[in-house]
Amino acid sequence: MIFELSEEQLMIQQAARDFARNECLPGVIERDEHQKFPKEQIMKLAELGFMGMMVDTAYGGSGLDTVSYVLAMEEISKIDASVSVCMSVNNSLVCYGLQQYASEEQKQKYLTPLAQGRKDGELYIGAFMLSEPEAGSDATSQRTTAEDKGDHYLLNGTKNWITNGSSASVYLVIAQTDAAKKSKGINVFIVEKNWPGVTVAAKENKLGIRGSDTHTVMFTDVKVPKENRIGEDGFGFTFAMKTLAGGRIGIASQALGIASGAYELAKEYSKTRKAFGTEIRNHQAIAFKLADMATRIEAARLLCLKAAWEKDNKIDYTLSSSMAKVFASETAMWTATEAVQVHGGYGYVKEYHVERLMRDAKITQIYEGTSEVQRIVISRSILK
Ligand code: CAA
Ligand code: FAD
Repeated sequence: MIFELSEEQLMIQQAARDFARNECLPGVIERDEHQKFPKEQIMKLAELGFMGMMVDTAYGGSGLDTVSYVLAMEEISKIDASVSVCMSVNNSLVCYGLQQYASEEQKQKYLTPLAQGRKDGELYIGAFMLSEPEAGSDATSQRTTAEDKGDHYLLNGTKNWITNGSSASVYLVIAQTDAAKKSKGINVFIVEKNWPGVTVAAKENKLGIRGSDTHTVMFTDVKVPKENRIGEDGFGFTFAMKTLAGGRIGIASQALGIASGAYELAKEYSKTRKAFGTEIRNHQAIAFKLADMATRIEAARLLCLKAAWEKDNKIDYTLSSSMAKVFASETAMWTATEAVQVHGGYGYVKEYHVERLMRDAKITQIYEGTSEVQRIVISRSILK
């Protein structure tokens, strides 16, 4: 068993680290406070080739492996999880879903610009639309319908909590085409945001990842050409589950980054802050917190890398990605909360960053399948 990263992987990790420090850190507190979408940062990430990291070079991607993607996600999430969620959705839900399952024509038309993150010099990214007001964890209960009208489908319904909801140009929309067939009557469609009948509601005012643009999106009699359905009739739910297995590696790496970022800040602070005549790191209660953080983070990192390695080696990674996600997200929440504690009162104000990391950590336990959903996936897999 080799735990060493390749030269290329180390280079990607360093590039992501530099990018996070130089491009994401400046203004991160203001973007959070004013809920400002990090458009400039995403455009620069696209220039670096980080918006289609795992897409074949033939389709405008960087042709890198999932391990490199995990390393990059961790570094960027240490500094700004609003940037990394946008990156994660575009890479591991939208581009991956298209690369694996779209037709050649769909790939030429949509995947190539999406993997480059731009088209005609403008931002060009995607969103993934599974959740609805009444279908979150219970994802097969889709209320959005797509009625077969011969040469097109007529799409009606509401999707909520959509990341990149207003910034994306392309949506992958999951909808029910035949309710009698339940999950086998679900399809997935490529829908363009500027088509008639698409309405984007106001941005959600959130606890964390406040720069990320989360919106409800409504569809009213949207005409979707038949050629924009992905895969065979009834493939939509399988598409969603298979794509989400990879997406969960992205969110697990995001959680890992939030945890590592909080830990690094807490460790540095413990070396400078003095109480009772000594640096607080010399109090065992603080030192042990840091020891536990380091241990849990290392375990989370190994789970993320194992899931990524399985994906790169074409081994079923459904179980490992759920394990990575539930463990890394719980590690992020715990570590960030303890990092605030290590900072005492200073941890409670914005300048020290850890309060933001604590707020950002919470979402990793909710989206792309809550911790309870990951435990459903894990328990079904180990008990079958
Ligand atoms: N691969 C292929 N097929 C799969 C599958 C997989 N991984 N998982 C399930 N299926 C199939 C099943 O085999 C089943 O087919 P049959 O009827 O032929 O047996 C069918 O799909 C239905 O599956 P289940 O019976 O297991 O479905 P369920 O209702 O029990 O739900 C669940 C399972 C795991 C809870 C699933 O609904 C789920 O993952 N829910 C969470 C949804 C989610 O993660 N949403 C995230 C939205 S995107 C997002 O959040 C992005 C972001 O924030 C940034
Ligand atoms: P519910 O499913 O109503 O769950 C409520 C609670 O009940 C949770 O604790 C849940 O774990 C628990 N629960 C439900 N069923 C069970 C069960 N069977 N056993 C045990 N516990 C259970 N969705 C998208 O499609 N695309 C996106 O881009 C996207 N981005 C998001 C961004 C943000 C900021 C947020 C908040 C959400 C986003 N989501 C997105 C939606 C997200 O995936 C859902 O919120 C999530 O899947 C949970 O669904 P729900 O909110 O309806 O909660």
